[in-house]
Amino acid sequence: MLNVSLKDKVVIVTGAAQGIGRAIALKMAEAECKGLLINDLKIDAHAKSLKKEAEAYGTEVLLVQGDMSEEEDVKRLIDSAVQKWGRLDVMVNNAGIAKANDLFKTTGDDWDLVIRVNMRSAFLGMKYASEYMKDHGGGSIVNMASIAGITGGNTSPDYGASKAGIIALTKYGARFLAKYKIRVNALAPGTINTEMIERNFSKLTEEEKRKRLSDIPMGRIGSPEEVANAALFFASDLSSFITGDSLMITGGRNT
Ligand SMILES: NC(=O)c1ccc[n+]([C@@H]2O[C@H](COP(=O)([O-])OP(=O)(O)OC[C@H]3O[C@@H](n4cnc5c(N)ncnc54)[C@H](O)[C@@H]3O)[C@@H](O)[C@H]2O)c1
Repeated sequence: MLNVSLKDKVVIVTGAAQGIGRAIALKMAEAECKGLLINDLKIDAHAKSLKKEAEAYGTEVLLVQGDMSEEEDVKRLIDSAVQKWGRLDVMVNNAGIAKANDLFKTTGDDWDLVIRVNMRSAFLGMKYASEYMKDHGGGSIVNMASIAGITGGNTSPDYGASKAGIIALTKYGARFLAKYKIRVNALAPGTINTEMIERNFSKLTEEEKRKRLSDIPMGRIGSPEEVANAALFFASDLSSFITGDSLMITGGRNT
């Protein structure tokens, strides 16, 4: 039987008030997960309307504010899910930021912040989720990398480096955690239609924007839902023999 259902499973998605995280959270609810913990820095009107949309699929939803680069916040997040539902099956480490400054404009503080939010959050999410999962039958961890982690990226030096770190962390986690029945995979999206990309594109000239689009063989940017479909694949048993992988979702772009 085809098994994309997450029935009875409990899922955490970080940085999920908007953009790709939001689409992933909704996709997990559509796949009928039992419990869905939605995290973001701020629990605002976006997060509250997402909760309602997810609940319409019959999923129970918890909204939990927290900064995923803070160790205590990550522990609190995982405890909240376990206390409410008594299990944790899928951890999606999606929270991330991008500054879109080139090498000369990037300061040491910019570098520290991007590396901290992107890499440290994925590390802490993977560490604390797997500490629980290893004693409770295993699970699936999905880390949000980027095509920039493979190519180096074409805007800022810190972003691609942080995402390359996440790809390495994913490979390490896959090897270390396989014995506990925990799979770890990464998503490597290209240009996806979210506020992050709107902000970054607003700094480009028209010619630079045209060049970015012409680098995509499929000739368009992707939607958050197209990334969410890949997240569901890694979360579900359809990918039961896949771990340590980084899946490009780029419309064919590999530069
Ligand atoms: N949009 C793209 O084209 C693209 C491409 C490749 C990878 N990504 C990655 O996908 C993820 C989501 O990106 P997006 O485009 O949806 O961005 P976005 O800016 O639209 O949304 C990111 C969300 O993460 C939250 N967040 C930021 N720092 C956080 C923290 N420390 N703790 C908790 N939440 C935090 C933000 O508040 C926001 O709601 C990021 O990791 C990003 O690097 C995006």
